[in-house]
Amino acid sequence: MSKLVIAIDGPAGAGKSTVAKALAKDLGLCYLDTGAMYRALALAASRAGMSPESGEDAAQLAESLEISFGAGDPPSIWIGDEDVTTQIRTPEIGELASALSTHPGVRRVMVKQQQAMVADGGYTLEGRDVTTVVAPHAQVKVYLTASLEERAKRRHLEMEQKGLGELEYSELRKQMQTRDHRDITREDSPLAVAPGATIVESGGLPIEGVVNRIKALIPPGY
Ligand code: DC
Repeated sequence: MSKLVIAIDGPAGAGKSTVAKALAKDLGLCYLDTGAMYRALALAASRAGMSPESGEDAAQLAESLEISFGAGDPPSIWIGDEDVTTQIRTPEIGELASALSTHPGVRRVMVKQQQAMVADGGYTLEGRDVTTVVAPHAQVKVYLTASLEERAKRRHLEMEQKGLGELEYSELRKQMQTRDHRDITREDSPLAVAPGATIVESGGLPIEGVVNRIKALIPPGY
């Protein structure tokens, strides 16, 4: 029997990372944040002076970039031997990651790397295309979502706690709305509810409740 894979997609701020990390910890699975890889690419692209339209260049950069994860909670993320865990979490990098991720060349490189990482199973992974493209054969597929207001509030609080910028709530909300729209309407593998995926609403539910709801979807024998 192949090892368990739990794939979670959903819009920004739905709680995917928190829930996926909790599931990985409870179930002894590895955790893969695919968005962090797009963010690392965006950081490198921004340093190289690339624009959001530089799809070809960004795809080439992605091929050569050595992105890896280290220990820690959340796991650290590295480009070569540089720890970029904090730098990739700004709204600007999130925005550029979203823009660059619309380019099919970029997606091809990322998806290939992600599929290689989870090939042997034993993973919980999250992103925007993990249930539809990266791991469509996952035993558990979830579309985690909440209202824009709830997601923006959560993200705003998170950023305050991490000391990441002074962005106004209303501005953050607007940025998230724009990013969601782009992620949902892009031509190549848009964020969508995959066939066989379960929609889970995280609004108003404590993390533990969401985690338990997802655990209940694990087929018998795993
Ligand atoms: O989850 P996040 O906010 O860290 O993701 C940043 C952006 O990366 C997101 O807006 C779209 C892109 N992304 C993607 O296209 N596919 C994924 N599997 C994960 C993220």
